[in-house]
Amino acid sequence: MITIGTPLCSSATRVMLLGSGELGKEIAIECQRLGIETIAVDRYQNAPAMQVAHKQYVINMLNEKELCMLINQEKPNFIVPEIEAISTTTLLKLEKKGYKIVPSAYAIDLTMNREKIRSFVRNQLKIPAAKYYIANNKIKFIEMIKKIGFPCIVKPLMSSSGKGQSVLHNFDKINEVWDKTQKENRAHIASSVIIEEFINFDFEITLLTVSAVDGIHFCSPIGHRQKNGDYRESWQPQEINDAIKKSAYKIAKKIVLSLKGYGIFGVELFIKNNEVIFNEISPRPHDTGLVTLISQDMSQFSLHVRSFLGIPIGSIRNHNFYCASSVILSTINSNNIKFNFLKEVLKKDIEIKLFGKQHGFIGRRLGIVLSKSNISIKHAIKQAKIFAKKIVIT
Ligand SMILES: Nc1ncnc2c1ncn2[C@@H]1O[C@H](COP(=O)(O)OP(=O)(O)OP(=O)(O)O)[C@@H](O)[C@H]1O
Ligand SMILES: [Mg+2]
Repeated sequence: MITIGTPLCSSATRVMLLGSGELGKEIAIECQRLGIETIAVDRYQNAPAMQVAHKQYVINMLNEKELCMLINQEKPNFIVPEIEAISTTTLLKLEKKGYKIVPSAYAIDLTMNREKIRSFVRNQLKIPAAKYYIANNKIKFIEMIKKIGFPCIVKPLMSSSGKGQSVLHNFDKINEVWDKTQKENRAHIASSVIIEEFINFDFEITLLTVSAVDGIHFCSPIGHRQKNGDYRESWQPQEINDAIKKSAYKIAKKIVLSLKGYGIFGVELFIKNNEVIFNEISPRPHDTGLVTLISQDMSQFSLHVRSFLGIPIGSIRNHNFYCASSVILSTINSNNIKFNFLKEVLKKDIEIKLFGKQHGFIGRRLGIVLSKSNISIKHAIKQAKIFAKKIVIT
């Protein structure tokens, strides 16, 4: 039996979102649809999810004391991390005390550290992934680059959205690249860096994989284009042959089952010469998966909420369209952004989602354009990009 209470009453089923960005906002909306009391937390006020939640709190989620105080005060039924910058040791302790961390504190802890998840996947699960070395100072960094060879890709051990990342073709910019990893590293683990073999892949996908009471389910593969480590366009379905798809499903299932817990996982895979190579995994909805807001009967957000509540998924149906998303990035620095477009821009099969971020700075993702096409994926992507460009930010 599944029981859902009434928000703001003593019977309430309560979800606490740790991280309140655009993905959290959609999770909050799905919770609201089910009458779940939603508590949005982040390090700044009025973040997107806070604008649609019942309650909002501003704390430093890397601080164990602050995090525990809030959780013990609110006593949520489910704690749903939306970002990686959270004290995962605190989540491990809270889970031991009986709190439900989505999908599991183990999954959250393992995946936020590039070395932990990579060595687990490569060495324990024997799944192909890029070769890598770790360095915690500049001398070792240079030594490891020599070992792996050029080109290689350098990333802070803990970071997301491409922060602190560089592709190296030679030693020319070595100091600059090292400084970038140090500057854009997540505060508490200052200097460690991962140096990865560069995979010259044919294409990359996000395979959204749902772990639920009624087993493992897959969304059809999402293709995407990244620039500076951050996504620009995503589309669904990505054309992919049956053998690769089967192999991708097998890899994703193996990883997701070993991470434990119910929820959606974004499994990032590279496809090269018909081989599937693991990149990384997010134990939560994925930014490239925003396209599922128009492409599927249940979006990745709905699937996440259903699965952690213990509701069976049944089957996921795709609408009969080619679908794409294109990001709207801020072109200015402002705390009072306006989006200007002619009404003709929003014609049939084009949708716009604005996240409601109060602080705009150049390059920050502020919204997306979604497009549907009966013609082709290429057409859907083109339409989304054209309309995203027609929005003038002032
Ligand atoms: N070893 C690699 N070889 C080739 N390209 C890579 C490699 N690692 C990463 N990339 C490229 O850089 C992109 C971002 O890398 P990655 O997913 O590791 O970064 P991230 O900071 O965790 O990003 P996000 O949080 O947005 O997923 C990848 O989607 C891929 O396009
Ligand atoms: Mg990634």
